[in-house]
Amino acid sequence: MKAAVVGHPIAHSQSPTIHGHWLESTGIAGTYEALDLHPDAFADEIRALVERGFQGVNVTVPHKEAALALADTTDETARRIGASNTLVFTQGKIQARNTDAYGFWENLAPSLNGQTPKRALVLGAGGAARAVLVALQDAGVQDIVLANRTLSRAQALADELAVSARIEPLSWDDAESLMDQQMLPLIINTSSRGMKGENPITCTLAAQTSQTVVNDIVYNPLQTALLQSAEVRGCRTVDGLGMLLHQARPAFQAFFGGRVVVDAGLRHKVERRMGLV
Ligand code: ATR
Repeated sequence: MKAAVVGHPIAHSQSPTIHGHWLESTGIAGTYEALDLHPDAFADEIRALVERGFQGVNVTVPHKEAALALADTTDETARRIGASNTLVFTQGKIQARNTDAYGFWENLAPSLNGQTPKRALVLGAGGAARAVLVALQDAGVQDIVLANRTLSRAQALADELAVSARIEPLSWDDAESLMDQQMLPLIINTSSRGMKGENPITCTLAAQTSQTVVNDIVYNPLQTALLQSAEVRGCRTVDGLGMLLHQARPAFQAFFGGRVVVDAGLRHKVERRMGLV
C-alpha cells in the first residue's frame, strides 16, 4: 500500500514522520512519502498516482482548493470548508475529504471538561479559520465572534459559513479590547500571527480567567506569546501540534486500514524532528 503528502514546497511537512510512526507501530506493510507537486501539474500528477495504485494522499499548501475541485466525489465537511486535505482513491475514483475540523476538535475537546462553550472568539479568517468555524458549529457553539485584520474577509466568511451559530465579524483591534474587557469561555487563534518569524499576539487578556480556554493552532513555536499571556491569567491553554497529529488519524485509517492513536511517543517524535523542544 502506498500513500503520500503532496504540497509545494513539501520539505517542512511532518506527515511522513506521523504516518511512518504509525506504519511502524501497526506493522502494516506500506509506504508514505512526501511529493513536491507544482501547481501547474497538480491534477495530472494526482491522476498518475491513482494509476500507480496509491491509496490516497494528504494535501497541503497550496493545493487544498485544487484537490477539492479535481475530486470525483466530496464529503460534506470538505464541501463546507471549501478545501480538501485528504484525497482517498477507491477503484480509480478520487474522493475529497477534510479532516482538519476533526483534528482541531479532537485536540481541543479534552480541555473543555465535557462541556461545549456557548461562545467563542476566533482570531483570523483564512483557510484554517474555515475548518475551525465548521467544527465549532458542529460541536454546538452558538455564538462566534470572528475577528480579522481585514474585516471584510471576516464578514464574507461569516456570511458564508454561519449555519447553526451566529457569527459576528469584528476588527482585530476590537477583538483585543474584547479580550481585555469580557471573560470569554473559548479563544482560538487561527491566524498566522505568532508563527515563527511573524508578529506575536501581544494582548494581555486582562479579563480572562481560569474559566477561559485559549487554543493557538500555531505550533511553531509551541508556546506562543498568546499562550504565555493566557498562562499568566490562569487560563487553560492548548497548543496547535495536537491538531496536526489528530487530522492525520482518519487519513491513515482510510489509506492503510489500521486503527491508530495519537500518543505521547508520537508527539515527542514530531517535537524532536521539528526542533520544538
Ligand atoms: P491559513 O490557511 O493558515 O489560515 P491564510 O488563508 O493565508 O492562511 O490566512 C492567514 C490569516 O492570518 C488571515 O486571517 C490573515 O489576516 P488577513 O485576512 O487580514 O490577511 C491573518 N494574518 C496574517 N498575518 C497577520 C498579521 N500580521 N496580523 C493579523 N492577522 C494576520
